[in-house]
Amino acid sequence: MDKIIIKGGRQLSGTVQVSGSKNAALPILIATLLTDGECVVRNVPELKDIETVIALLGVLGKQVVRQGDTVQVSASSSLYAEAPYEIVRRMRASILVMGPLVARLKRARVSLPGGCVIGRRPVDIHLKGFSTLGADITLREGYIEVQANHLRGRDLRLTFPSVGATENLMMVATLTSGTTRLFNAAREPEIEDLARFLNGMGAHVQGAGTSRITIVGVPSLHGAHHRVIPDRIEAGTYLLAAAITQGRITLQGVEPPHLTALLQTLRKAGVQVLIDASSNTITTDGKGRLRPVTIKTAPYPSFPTDLQAQWMALMAVTAGVSRITEQIFEDRFLHVSELVRMGADIHTEGNTAIIRGVKVLCGAPVMVSDLRAGAALILAGLVAKGTTVVHRVYHLDRGYAALVPQLCALGASIDRISS
Ligand code: UD1
Repeated sequence: MDKIIIKGGRQLSGTVQVSGSKNAALPILIATLLTDGECVVRNVPELKDIETVIALLGVLGKQVVRQGDTVQVSASSSLYAEAPYEIVRRMRASILVMGPLVARLKRARVSLPGGCVIGRRPVDIHLKGFSTLGADITLREGYIEVQANHLRGRDLRLTFPSVGATENLMMVATLTSGTTRLFNAAREPEIEDLARFLNGMGAHVQGAGTSRITIVGVPSLHGAHHRVIPDRIEAGTYLLAAAITQGRITLQGVEPPHLTALLQTLRKAGVQVLIDASSNTITTDGKGRLRPVTIKTAPYPSFPTDLQAQWMALMAVTAGVSRITEQIFEDRFLHVSELVRMGADIHTEGNTAIIRGVKVLCGAPVMVSDLRAGAALILAGLVAKGTTVVHRVYHLDRGYAALVPQLCALGASIDRISS
């Protein structure tokens, strides 16, 4: 397994071109199942999760050709209704094929995603939505089996604004006769991007980006071309890398409004943030003494759970006491014990972490438990005294394209070693 070796202490400086959003590209590629027409999706990041979704589309009857950041999807055979365990276990977002498959085939058999390290992650909100639209759902031998011969648009109120459930239900509703209204829908920019793609395919989706989305079903959808939005979590991770090393980084190709919660929090902490909306760039300068800032994660537009671990790394070296309350996932503090091994002073009380900033972190061997925890350990390694050896880096390949070369180009002493 590969390792990443970091010699800490270098200030980062330079420019980063932000990749296309993983969490937007995944549902958009899955939405190509809603048509036999040809779809071309651009600005798709080069990530393990994208390889997984491409494999899944192949299993379901699509021909997928990838050239650079462009993915072309066309029909190669009739659609197949089963998403196997072998692929779903690699990536939970595979559950999103349920919407398109049910919409097209009136049935689907999708492996039930298990729990994962950051919590149980049930799919009850997805299933309740399908069932309200008229689907019969059976759980058998680890699979969710959906039969849906008579779906009809209805009003659905989500008990929590789940991103995945909003996407799944939005997709099934595009080809469901009548009007579906989603209340308490997730408002993430990735939902808006999916809606733009669906509308490009001929769907009638209105209100994406607000908590009330209306979808008027149409008989069929056609192929479409689309460019995926920039990855706000990758962008946020680089901004935090600049802050933690007291460096200066300019991000290119970002959507600054998607990062409002992070940018406000960085400013409160004393990081200089310059936004140039006309050129879609953000420059941060972390020079000077930072202040501790307490945060709570919550659905968009609040502070994203996917930047919580990276924020914790910054607070771990910021003098004073701060707290982080994780409100989205039940067990998303696995990075705490690894940061503590590097000398951080952090303890948890339920879903709150209390962080007392220390003067220095020390390099140590550490283990990545999940994607964003991995990003936090990399940030900690960048500022730690001595050498940090990061194990199980395959988690990072799921969500960060070219992380090591990018950080090298910004002046970090970082290397990836195959063993
Ligand atoms: C998506 C993102 C992920 C991000 C998360 C929250 C993708 C591919 N992944 O994940 O990076 O961290 O949003 O912003 O876009 N829940 C239920 N029942 C359900 C569905 C969800 O209880 O049926 C719970 C989950 O266990 C979790 C919370 O709701 O605690 C948020 O989940 P959700 O918004 O669905 O996240 P994902 O779509 O899985």
